[in-house]
Amino acid sequence: MLTENLLAAARAARIRAYAPYSRFPVGAALLTDEGAVVTGANIENASPGMTVCAERAAVMSAVHAGYRRFKKIAIVADCSPPPAPCGACRQVLWELAGHIEIIMGNLEDERIIKSLPELLPQPFGADRWSDNPVSDALFEAEEGWRLPVSFHPVGYVANDFNDPDQIPKNYKDLLSRIVIAPEFEEGLYRIEEEERINIISYLHRAGSYTLKGKRPGRGNQVYGVFVCRAPSRPNAIAQTTVDLVERKKNILTVRGADLAHGTPVLDLKTVMPDR
Ligand code: THU
Repeated sequence: MLTENLLAAARAARIRAYAPYSRFPVGAALLTDEGAVVTGANIENASPGMTVCAERAAVMSAVHAGYRRFKKIAIVADCSPPPAPCGACRQVLWELAGHIEIIMGNLEDERIIKSLPELLPQPFGADRWSDNPVSDALFEAEEGWRLPVSFHPVGYVANDFNDPDQIPKNYKDLLSRIVIAPEFEEGLYRIEEEERINIISYLHRAGSYTLKGKRPGRGNQVYGVFVCRAPSRPNAIAQTTVDLVERKKNILTVRGADLAHGTPVLDLKTVMPDR
């Protein structure tokens, strides 16, 4: 995970701060060992001592989601120099995240990187008074697969249809562009040799789902959601096979995508010839 991406996640998380008193929104993004990113923002209270900082909001969400091992945390606020975690957050991070890297950033792209032990020398930890091992119930119960998975889009779809409902019925002829983020451009090496590619995308406009419903193109017949291609499903992931028309640097022109403008692209894969 690039430092840049973790900082971008913290910047995005900052937008959802609840900071009416200080008007100082802070965002945090915590990277787990598994590669997931869990975010948080400061949540204030009219009783000021009840305020929770962005870093603690992130680490507590992550622990509750079942994550136990962490690599880094990015923290972003609109101040220079960038914000350093408060003493309370350093203490909580030490217990729940241990030796992590702390990436402090701001909106001007200044950054300071330190390790948590640098920010909290001589920490006070549970090892000082307890021999109880910290329980890892989720993994012990082999329920680790229930953990949420987070992806970082590698690009997005660009066309004239902001609303998925506007996409024409004859979308098989529709040209779209797939804009791949510059840091992933090298991953397109030799894609020109492919006639068709699979786009794996996240249908960010999909609504709530039901497990059974009408299957498009099959009249009133009812099918399970896993027997349909409907966008509204437990994980709104789409797989779309398109013709590759052209590549210019990090931008692909493709034909036949029924994807709205701005749809995040998670992955591109080659098409198996006979399957
Ligand atoms: N705050 C954080 O969320 N993280 C920090 O590292 C420093 C301070 C919040 C708490 C409060 O809502 C606001 O910033 C002003 O202190």
